[in-house]
Amino acid sequence: MAQDIESTLIEKRVFPPSAEFARGAEVKSMDEYERLYARAAADLEGFWAEEARRLDWMQPFTEVLDESKAPFVRWFADGKLNISANCLDRHLAARADKPALVWIGEPGERRTLSYRELHTEVCKAANALTELGVGAGDRVAVYLPMIPELAISLLACARIGATHSVIFGGFSDTAIRDRVNDSSCKLIITADGGWRRGKIVPLKATVDAALEHGCPSVEKVLVVTRTRETVPMVEARDVRWETVVPLASAECPPVALEAEHPLFILYTSGTTGKPKGVVHSTGGYAVGAQYTTRLVFDLRDDDVYWCTADVGWVTGHSYVVYGPLMNGATTVMFEGAPDFPDKDRFWDIIEREKCTILYTAPTAIRAFMRWGDQFPERHDLSSLRLLGTVGEPINPEAWMWYRRVIGGDRCPIVDTWWQTETGAIMITPLPGATPTKPGSCTRPLPGIFADVVDKEGRSCGNNAGGYLVIRRPWPSMLRTVWGDAERYVKTYFSEIFVDGKALYFAGDGARRDEDGYFWVMGRIDDVLNVAGHRLGTMEIESALVGHVDVAEAAVVGRPDELKGQAVVAFVTLKSGRVASAAVKDALRAHVVKEIGALARPEEIRFTDALPKTRSGKIMRRLLKEIAAGGEVKGDVTTLEDVAVLNRLSAADEE
Ligand code: WTA
Repeated sequence: MAQDIESTLIEKRVFPPSAEFARGAEVKSMDEYERLYARAAADLEGFWAEEARRLDWMQPFTEVLDESKAPFVRWFADGKLNISANCLDRHLAARADKPALVWIGEPGERRTLSYRELHTEVCKAANALTELGVGAGDRVAVYLPMIPELAISLLACARIGATHSVIFGGFSDTAIRDRVNDSSCKLIITADGGWRRGKIVPLKATVDAALEHGCPSVEKVLVVTRTRETVPMVEARDVRWETVVPLASAECPPVALEAEHPLFILYTSGTTGKPKGVVHSTGGYAVGAQYTTRLVFDLRDDDVYWCTADVGWVTGHSYVVYGPLMNGATTVMFEGAPDFPDKDRFWDIIEREKCTILYTAPTAIRAFMRWGDQFPERHDLSSLRLLGTVGEPINPEAWMWYRRVIGGDRCPIVDTWWQTETGAIMITPLPGATPTKPGSCTRPLPGIFADVVDKEGRSCGNNAGGYLVIRRPWPSMLRTVWGDAERYVKTYFSEIFVDGKALYFAGDGARRDEDGYFWVMGRIDDVLNVAGHRLGTMEIESALVGHVDVAEAAVVGRPDELKGQAVVAFVTLKSGRVASAAVKDALRAHVVKEIGALARPEEIRFTDALPKTRSGKIMRRLLKEIAAGGEVKGDVTTLEDVAVLNRLSAADEE
């Protein structure tokens, strides 16, 4: 109770940007924000065209938005550009010697690449890829640790028009195989291993296992040497990065690509068992990533900007690599974990590198809070001027801690709401303009027409919960689901209609307060957010059901103080199989094998039946209540077998 009152009091507090911050910012006041917003509303195409002209186009566009085949839209369709040229070549005149990438390895190495050096490395890697048979229109899978070669690989693919598909280093061989096969990748870039808390993560071995299962499209595997452990190399298939990239020519003119050319595919979880390949364009994505990085992080030429996200997720794509580099910034990339060798690793890096901007996740902030103030207090964090968060709703207490302990009560916080599908930040404070409220991502960016609506598409009143939708297209929106256009329409444009036209809806519930501020309440579909990682309940269920002992499984999220949500699985075993701790272990191992350690169920409960409606649908709402340890309050009249419920609540826990 006391806690609730405290939260409400915190939520009601408003933190305007300091006059000093506002003075130096690109958008200096709410008046200015409102003007920009109104301008975009009055002339959406003119607004985005002007923004797009900040980039270098090899062939200028004359069309802006083509909605004739909505929801399949095209932006700047007759223009041609190359995003790697926008990240690198365009800075060579003014910033050749400025650090583009500052990399810190987990064991402590440091490597800086200036814009000139990064340009050279990217050109060489691009030529090496070409020599290995990769060209425009091919797909390349990237399964690397957070090392410079990861950024170099992305930019090299982009330079020659190959579409990259980054697979997070925590995914298993089965998950790699599914992703590689879904988009028929021709080549995989990996490393011998990666460092994680002093131990080696065997990346190459995992790729080998994936290929053993059968990935017929893969012709070559390019292997970066990172940990120097011995890994078997398959003759004619596997090639060492060090034997081809350094020898390649440093001349590599960027290929002029149509704006709609697919820059990358990124697999993300949804409500079905199979992750979907979200496809992003070149031109629209570039415009979105450039625009949002510039405005939201209010970049200045002397900033040292650090986004802690892994490039395996969309945040790393847009805000470690593309956004900062298009803006000519210095971007910090860190390979390791926040608690290795000690729990002050982040603060140590900020002090050493004099980082001015930190962008991280609420789950990390909550862990820092729990570890205690003594870790940040060991370090001088006075270089910081701006803080950001992304990935899940941030609880007001964590927000306040972040502001006070890390930001010294001086740094604005930008709580940025967006998704893999949106490509770039959508709803966020502008740090020099927006008064912030702890826990709210505040207002949509100019050009983004977000709303909270009911099932019929009518805007909800103040503080009424509803569906978070986007009413108008935006340049960095996903274009389709790889190989499954129907699924694109079904997943994102089939829930809410206004005058027969579908609005973009991708699963979040929200409310808007009396100041028009958005409060995202989290997913209202069957997607979990575990430590900022998206996982589909169906995905984990199909992994569980794939185990020989399992008859049926239902997965739900349970609120978790640190991770936001924890995975809880209700499992019915096949007749004759006996529930035991050993079976639990086997099921956990099975999920790790099928998806990866990030999907490992925190809790497994065995039950002889799952609660279902008469039509046979599993009643997740009830399971959620049970998983959360609460009493089952909801309506149970549609329940097929009420007795199941009682047995479930009593089912043995860990
Ligand atoms: C959640 C990560 C509240 C949300 C960029 C969304 C957030 C999902 C926020 C997308 C935020 C992201 N406040 N919730 N600031 N940012 N989310 O695709 O549920 O990995 O739908 O993209 O994370 O996760 P994804």
